[in-house]
Amino acid sequence: MTALLPDDPASDPPGHDLAHHGDAEVGPGLVDLAVNVRAGTPPAWLTERLTASLVGLAAYPNATAARAAVAAAHGRDPAQVWPVAGAAEAFVLLARALRPRRAVVVHPQFTEPEAALRAAGHAVERVVLDGDLTLDAGDVPEEADLVVVGNPTNPTSVLHPAATLAGLARPGRVLVVDEAFADTVPGEPESLAARTDLPGLVVLRSLTKTWGLAGLRVGYVLAPEELVAALAAAAPPWSVSTPALEAMQACTTPAARDEADRAAVALRGDREHLLGLLAGLDGVEVRGSDPAASFVLLRFPGRTDVRGALRDRGWAVRRGDTFPGLDGEHVRAAVRDRATSESFVAALREVL
Ligand SMILES: Cc1ncc(COP(=O)(O)O)c(C=O)c1O
Repeated sequence: MTALLPDDPASDPPGHDLAHHGDAEVGPGLVDLAVNVRAGTPPAWLTERLTASLVGLAAYPNATAARAAVAAAHGRDPAQVWPVAGAAEAFVLLARALRPRRAVVVHPQFTEPEAALRAAGHAVERVVLDGDLTLDAGDVPEEADLVVVGNPTNPTSVLHPAATLAGLARPGRVLVVDEAFADTVPGEPESLAARTDLPGLVVLRSLTKTWGLAGLRVGYVLAPEELVAALAAAAPPWSVSTPALEAMQACTTPAARDEADRAAVALRGDREHLLGLLAGLDGVEVRGSDPAASFVLLRFPGRTDVRGALRDRGWAVRRGDTFPGLDGEHVRAAVRDRATSESFVAALREVL
């Protein structure tokens, strides 16, 4: 029998494992700096609200209230909101719904957008950033009719200016900005979530990271009505569960958004602390200008053994070599509380 599936659609020709994720690196007895979900989450009030929603499980999910809540939070119309089972589902829906002639993915970035496009049979062109890993508008080919970029970007932690990204939007192009980590930045100054004036702009948001809901699968798409309609047509029925829709309402209230913002301010302090500790170490370079998210990208020039050596000492960091544009000298490490960062940097000092 002939297999109808394309050969290993998740792997690119030079062999980056696009399906690798940080959760594969955590394990018993390891401190987890590999996954970027905020520690100590979900908060009790949120768990209680999700638990209360379970009494409604006999009914099929109804997204009307969740779409209205998200729309209100971002100053949009509910017709511009499409709930998804995590931002990861949005990449699959976009790959199914769109027919790009020239799809461009800006790397290094989260690998699922490229994997989803390839799995749907689309050719993918890479724009690979180097140096300080910032993006110039001129880096993206003018003919690209689909552009995918993360902001802030995983794994570089670089926050691109809103004006640079807005400058990539044009008629005839779909511009996908993955804002899965936008709420880790106080005030979200570079977010395009509320911009309804940019043609073809698709903003993806996730409730996974800040709220600790990776297991629930919940996020949403903000896009012009016609693109939302195309995603809806490509979506499986009821893929977003009633508790996930409840989370969407709970996490988009003004009070919840304030709580997320306070967490982002605390995170910024913790990140500065970690960066200060790293500045005192020889043999490590922090990649990317002005890290802005809940993780940092580290490079150890001439050393590909650091991740393994950290693991031997009880620390799980995320490998960098599965990201196009990076190699085995890179790892990504989550920003945790200051005591954890101090112990981590002490372990790193031993290794180096
Ligand atoms: C940059 C980025 N975008 C999207 C996702 C997917 O998030 P979700 O859990 O909402 O599917 C991740 C998960 O790691 C991510 O790092």
